[in-house]
Amino acid sequence: MKLLAISGSARQDSTNTALLMAMKRLAPVGADVSVFHRLDTLPVFSPDLEGERTPVVVMALLEEIAKADGIIISSPEYVRAIPGGLKNAIDWMVSRYEIMGKPIALAHASHRGDEMLASLRVVLGTVSDGFLPHVFLRLPLVGKSVQEMALLMREPDYASQITRFLSDLVATIESTQKGV
Ligand SMILES: Cc1cc2nc3c(=O)[nH]c(=O)nc-3n(C[C@H](O)[C@H](O)[C@H](O)COP(=O)(O)O)c2cc1C
Repeated sequence: MKLLAISGSARQDSTNTALLMAMKRLAPVGADVSVFHRLDTLPVFSPDLEGERTPVVVMALLEEIAKADGIIISSPEYVRAIPGGLKNAIDWMVSRYEIMGKPIALAHASHRGDEMLASLRVVLGTVSDGFLPHVFLRLPLVGKSVQEMALLMREPDYASQITRFLSDLVATIESTQKGV
């Protein structure tokens, strides 16, 4: 099973990206998590650039989405909202087929950010009828350094929450694929 994990933060030492990287390490047998954390490389969406004019870098991400059995998104809140880079990426997906029906689960590396989460749930529920609102992981990592996160993510409590989230997601996707 292929899972594509998209970070809403382009920051080098992002807590959200670190959480997704930990998922890559802790993925259950049979599941492969790849992490995309370069939403800053996508040009600003314009309907004039859709179809045959879709930029190569956007097409590359869309192809990864098409290949994935499921998507995980972990994003910070910026100014009480979805960060521009993430919303921009979603705008590129709206009128295309790749995201429609694709299972999507949210993770979040902060104890704050509920306005962003509420908005993102509305947006994802709009672009994909595969959005899974009940599969969710929240770990409070705001302000942690890369070294602190590396240690935390190896603690049994954190590691088991991540493993449980991934197992839930894999089981949900498998039951959807079997039509259960
Ligand atoms: C421009 C900007 C705006 C922010 N606005 C909010 C906000 O409205 N609410 C909040 O809880 N945190 C806000 N933050 C803090 C980030 O959400 C927080 O630092 C988060 O952990 C960053 O995620 P990252 O480590 O993955 O980059 C903001 C940070 C920045 C840079």
